[in-house]
Amino acid sequence: MSTTATTTMPTVDISSWSEVIRRYAAHANPYREFERTARFAEEAIAALGHEDIRAVLDFKRRGGPGGRLLLTGGAVDPDLMPTTESTEDIEDGKGTYYSEFTLIMLGKLLGEPFSYSQERNGAMIHNVRPAKRNETNISSDSSAIILDLHNENIYHPVQPDYLMLSGLRRDPGGVAKTLVIGSDEVLPLLSAEDVATLGEFRFRTSVDYNFGNSDAARGNGPQIRVLFGDPASPMIAYDDEYIAGTDPQAQAALDRLRAILHERMFEVELGPGEILLLDNLKTVHGRTAFKARYDGTDRWLQRLLVTRDLRRAEMLLGQTERTVTWNYEPGKFYGYVEYR
Ligand SMILES: [Fe+2]
Repeated sequence: MSTTATTTMPTVDISSWSEVIRRYAAHANPYREFERTARFAEEAIAALGHEDIRAVLDFKRRGGPGGRLLLTGGAVDPDLMPTTESTEDIEDGKGTYYSEFTLIMLGKLLGEPFSYSQERNGAMIHNVRPAKRNETNISSDSSAIILDLHNENIYHPVQPDYLMLSGLRRDPGGVAKTLVIGSDEVLPLLSAEDVATLGEFRFRTSVDYNFGNSDAARGNGPQIRVLFGDPASPMIAYDDEYIAGTDPQAQAALDRLRAILHERMFEVELGPGEILLLDNLKTVHGRTAFKARYDGTDRWLQRLLVTRDLRRAEMLLGQTERTVTWNYEPGKFYGYVEYR
């Protein structure tokens, strides 16, 4: 695996948010009272100036180079507790919740924070840190293995538009890095023929075991296109592990795309107060393998998923909750208009 670190990383300083965050984040525990916290996050946004939020709104409107934006200078929780495998200890014992509150403000600016009932029991804020039991599973809590390049839940009727990662503590070994690359960055490196092939329904993805797919084998799920949307700046649906071409030419185009993604992906190390906003439809991401210590000093990130339109869950699944429930059923069509 080779990585290049020369790609641009558009960066915005949000240190001007800190005072507002300290003022509003103290009112509610985001793990125990999410809706109340979200309302305070709206008040906090209203207390900021237009200049403070303009870059995030621009990112929502126009995307950005590589489909990502790095925010720096975020409010850092004082006296951060040791990294722990216990979710309960974090949820009740972290003391201050500035990092969570910042993510919720960003989620509210970009759309609506949401979750899946089958992922982390529907938790809105995902605490991502190494867990001994998942050391070698393909999971965000793994450590010993590379987390393959993918975008989040591409097979799901309500997929995240954005994925946010907030750094609380770096890997003390300096090895764990987030891997990221945007569809814009690979497009010029693909042949016109491959771009055309990747834009056709000649691929199948798999569906995570969590969502009712008892055999999460490569390519046994719904038919997909890998590139779609604006031909000049396409969206991407990709997963190293799950997608297969349905014919040899499609598989060959997918293999060439994979090689380019892995050659061109670059590494981001998120430290305290740094948040990476990813357009989940314009980027793929992963993580390097690293050695976890399980001694309280391990890498700790927080993650929040955002949909621009929570009503998609109502239209497609008949649900109005912020936590979406869906089980994969082969052949079932999730449209709200039936075209005949
Ligand atoms: Fe992911």
